[in-house]
This record gives sequence, structure tokens and C-alpha cells, in this order.
Amino acid sequence: MKEALGLLAVWSIVLSGIALLVGVALIKRGNRVAHHRAMLTATVLAALFLVFYLAKWALHGTTAYGGPEAWRGAYYFVLLTHTLLAALNGPLALYVIWRAFRGEFSLHKRWAKVLVPVWLYVALTGWLIYWVLQRYGTETGTIAF
Ligand code: HEM
Repeated sequence: MKEALGLLAVWSIVLSGIALLVGVALIKRGNRVAHHRAMLTATVLAALFLVFYLAKWALHGTTAYGGPEAWRGAYYFVLLTHTLLAALNGPLALYVIWRAFRGEFSLHKRWAKVLVPVWLYVALTGWLIYWVLQRYGTETGTIAF
């Protein structure tokens, strides 16, 4: 169950990053309808990531870093920035989508240019953290960092 939830979480965040890139490519070609669909797909996948991640956290607690000491600082830097930016990504995505639905495309574009790199960073580091913990993770059995 724990492995399945971890896999579902990492795949949903990686696929949401891919849908995001597809959505950016589509709007660059002027395909508004397909852009709209790709971005809503990316948003649903990111919401699924949150569900799987929180389910894993609630049922199995956290996994602590148990790898080489030389990498500990870098690992916690990535984990902290990933967590903070993931928390920012949700409200920012809702704001950007809301502006698009209201037809306020200059605000939509301005904030989308902040959102896209944040989203890609969260997706990439989500995969990186998963990979590091698969190799070097140690069970804590508790719900804490
Ligand atoms: C999280 C979701 C979304 C993100 C990250 C996003 C991202 C972007 C980006 C980066 C651009 C500017 C591309 C460029 O000119 O370089 C853009 C433009 C645009 N987006 Fe989105 N978008 C999202 C959702 C939506 C939705 C739901 C709609 C439709 C309701 C939409 C409609 C548009 C339109 C029509 C433009 C072109 C505006 C113009 O050129 O005046 N977007 N979007």
C-alpha cells in the first residue's frame, strides 16, 4: 500500500509537469482550446498528487533521509524549497485559472509566467525526493519531519 501510494504520487506530479509543458507549447501555437484542456488536466493531476501524498503521510508517516552526510544539507534544501513552493503553487494556479475564465488574459499571462517555473520546479524536485528516499530513506513510523 505504501509503495503504491508513493508511486501514484510521484507519477501524478511528473505527469502534471508534462501536461503543463504540453499546455505551454499549445498556447505558443495559438491553440487556445487544447491549451485550456491541457492546463486543466495538469491541475487535476497536481490535485491527485496532493491526495496520494497526504494519504501516504496519514497512513504511513514520513520517511527520513538516511543517505551520505555530505548530501544532507542539499537534500533538506531541496525538500524545504519543494514544500514551500508546492504550497504556493495551489493558490497561484487557482488565481491564474480564475483570471483566464474571466477573460483577463494580460493578468493571466503575467502570473502564468511566475506559475510555470514554480510548477516545474515542484514536479522535478518531487521526482528527485522520491528517488533519493527510495535509495536512502529510513522509516520513522511517525507523522513528523
Ligand atoms: C494552471 C493553468 C494554466 C497555466 C499555467 C497557463 C499558462 C499560460 C501561459 C504561460 C500563457 C502565455 C503564453 C505566452 O504567451 O508565452 C497562457 C496564455 C493563455 N491562456 Fe493559459 N494557462 C492556464 C490555464 C488556462 C485556462 C483554464 C484557459 C482558458 C479558460 C487559458 C487560456 C489562455 C489563453 C486564451 C491565453 C492566450 C492569451 C493571449 O495571448 O492573449 N489558460 N497561459
